[in-house]
Amino acid sequence: MEQSESPETRAARGGWYREFKTRPSTPPLFLTTAFDVDGLEQLEAMTAGRESGYVYTRDGNPNHDALAADVAALEKGAAGAVFASGMGAMTATLLALLKSGDHVVAARVLYGRTAQMLNHLASSFGVRVTYVDANDPSAFGRALTPQTRLAIVETVSNPLMEVADLTAIATSVGEVPLLVDNTFATPCLVRPLEHGARLVFHSGSKYLNGHGDVMLGVMVGDAGLIRKIKGLGALYGVNSNPMESWLASRGLRTLPLRMQRVCETAANLAPFLAGYAGVARVYYPGLVSHPSHEIARRMMPAGFGGMLAFDLAGGQPAVAKLFRALGETIPFSPTLADARTTVSYPAGTSHKFLTAQERAECGITDGLVRLSVGLEDSDTLRRELAQALAAVV
Ligand SMILES: Cc1ncc(COP(=O)(O)O)c(C=O)c1O
Repeated sequence: MEQSESPETRAARGGWYREFKTRPSTPPLFLTTAFDVDGLEQLEAMTAGRESGYVYTRDGNPNHDALAADVAALEKGAAGAVFASGMGAMTATLLALLKSGDHVVAARVLYGRTAQMLNHLASSFGVRVTYVDANDPSAFGRALTPQTRLAIVETVSNPLMEVADLTAIATSVGEVPLLVDNTFATPCLVRPLEHGARLVFHSGSKYLNGHGDVMLGVMVGDAGLIRKIKGLGALYGVNSNPMESWLASRGLRTLPLRMQRVCETAANLAPFLAGYAGVARVYYPGLVSHPSHEIARRMMPAGFGGMLAFDLAGGQPAVAKLFRALGETIPFSPTLADARTTVSYPAGTSHKFLTAQERAECGITDGLVRLSVGLEDSDTLRRELAQALAAVV
C-alpha cells in the first residue's frame, strides 16, 4: 500500500490485477479450470518462476491473486493467499509449518474448529499442543520448547471478545512464528503484522466479504512463508474457487465503511444490554467493565468492533426463549459479519466440539449469546432487542 493511501482508498480502488489487460472498470470473473499455455518453453519458464502466468486454477487464478493482493495491502503484508474457507487456510498453514513431533503454543480460547483441528493433529499426527491463557503474554514464552514451530492467538477472541496484547505475545515467543486470527478485528481495526506477528489469518466468509454469501479463507505474511502455504493448499486441494474470490473482492470495497458503522452501533448497544434485567454480563471490549478494555484502548484506537456477547442469567432455557422472541428480526444464524444483525449460540455451534469442561474453562456458559451487529440503524436494533428480552425475564 502507498504510504499516503488510506484503508478506505485502498479498499475502494482495489480489485485491479495486471492480468486484466482489456481494462474493464470492474474486475472480470475468471471462471476457468485451466489456462492455455503457448508451448513447453512457456510452461518451463512459468514453472521456474521466470515468467508470470497461470496454468491450472487449483494452483492459481487472477481472481484469487486480486483478492489476496488487496487483503495483503490492507494488512501491510508482503503476500497473501486465498483458500476454500478459513479452515482450508488453516489446514494449508498447519500442513506447511508442522510435522510429527513439532509443538504448537495456542491460546486457550480459540474458534472451536481451530482448537479441534489442533487436537486432531495431536491425536492423529503426533503434533503436541499446549494451550495457554492469552491474557498472560509471558505464558506463551514459558510454554516454548525447542520443538515449538508455531504460536496461535486471535486478536479478538471468539466468543468472549478478549483482546490479545499482540506486541507482548510476539515478544514473548521470539523467533517462533506467531499466527494471528484477525477475523473479528479486520485490518481496519488492528494490523497484527505491525505488532510482530508473522502470519495473519481471516475467515474471509466474515467481514472481508461482509454479505454472508461466501466461504473463503485468507492467509497473509512474508512472501516465502505464503509461497510454501499456498503450495500445500494446492497440493491438498483446499483452494477457493474464482467466484468466491470475485464476490469477496467486491465485498472488500466497502470494508472500512462497514467496520466504522458496526463499531458505532455495537458501542451503542453494549451499555444498553448491560443495563437489562436478566442479562448477567456483557462482553464488549469497549466497555470499561471488560477485562481487556485497557489493552483494547491501546490496540484498537479506531473502534472496538461489531461483535459482542452477553450472558443470560436463565441459561439455555432463557436463550431458547430469546431466540424465539427475536424470530426473524434478528435471526439465529451460526455465522457473523453479515450485513444484517444475527445472534448465535457458541455452546451449541462454534464451540460445541469442546467438552463441557473445556467450555467452562474458557468461560463459555450455557446462557451465552453472541451478537453480530449489522448495518441496521441502532434505534431499530435496540427496540427489537428490548422487546425480545422482555419475553425472557
Ligand atoms: C474467528 C474465526 N476463525 C476461523 C473461522 C473458520 O472460518 P470458516 O468458517 O471460513 O472456515 C471462523 C468461522 O466462524 C471464525 O469465527
